[in-house]
Amino acid sequence: MNNRTISICSGKGGVGKTFFTVNLSIALAKQGKKVLVFDGDFGLGNINVLFGFVPKQTIYNVFKGHRSLRDILFHTSEGVDVIPGASGYSQIANLVDEERQNLFKGFSELPNYDYILVDVGAGINQNSISLCLSSDEVIVVVNPEPASITDAYGTIKTIRASDTSKKIKLVINKIHSEAEGYKVVKRIQDISEKFLSFKPDLLGFINYDIEVEKSIKKQKPILIFSPFSKPSENITRLSKILTGEKLIETQNNNGLLDFFKKRFKVLEKNPEERNSAS
Ligand SMILES: Nc1ncnc2c1ncn2[C@@H]1O[C@H](COP(=O)(O)OP(=O)(O)OP(=O)(O)O)[C@@H](O)[C@H]1O
Ligand SMILES: [Mg+2]
Repeated sequence: MNNRTISICSGKGGVGKTFFTVNLSIALAKQGKKVLVFDGDFGLGNINVLFGFVPKQTIYNVFKGHRSLRDILFHTSEGVDVIPGASGYSQIANLVDEERQNLFKGFSELPNYDYILVDVGAGINQNSISLCLSSDEVIVVVNPEPASITDAYGTIKTIRASDTSKKIKLVINKIHSEAEGYKVVKRIQDISEKFLSFKPDLLGFINYDIEVEKSIKKQKPILIFSPFSKPSENITRLSKILTGEKLIETQNNNGLLDFFKKRFKVLEKNPEERNSAS
């Protein structure tokens, strides 16, 4: 097991992070990978809504010591495990020591995973940036509209300012043609190269398709609802690129624990986050 942690973020909200995370996890599971989805959007966690289940317990119950991580792990019918976010409990940065201890306690009871996908909340705030910095790599989701492109660049800039070795890949979602997608990629790569001396890689494109909206309304991931649609094809292809990449095997097998350890180290380096994170 590689325990490869990937954060999925954007900058601008509503670009399709949660939609992509859910369907990418299913595409990876279909390839026989063991996948955990972690809802990193503590303010408005909605991974479970897109999967179509109502969690009885969330990470809030873990913070409070009422449940262990294993208790709240939800096994979806698609073969993906989910740690549901706590809607309305936005201040992970403000966890008191006891709550942190409660979170760390149960990691050894969790199974190992090939991939841990973290759906990061929108916005370039310390909270989302620290989640990205704690993971092995970052996927930035962008739409072909100016505000999304500007905010994606802002996110890349902020991450690279803290970690110049962080791997960042682009997914351009809601495109109407490949030409449109390549234009977006060129703009982001050009500006990143010019000002950051860094060129984020393109992971791939996802087409705009009304089927996505229908699948979300039905609370059925598009890979299940409409497996032959263009976005399903696109996401399956992206998942194969990810699994085909040569990986550096990690020395240990506790990716989620590592992720949180780094997460809290990042917090210690940025104490002001305790007050400013949302
Ligand atoms: N490829 C697509 N084609 C058509 N519509 C899409 C596509 N991807 C996403 N959408 C639409 O965009 C909306 C927002 O998607 P989603 O909730 O995944 O975004 P998000 O980035 O997670 O938002 P937030 O920042 O609020 O967490 C969805 O309700 C869906 O209707
Ligand atoms: Mg979301």
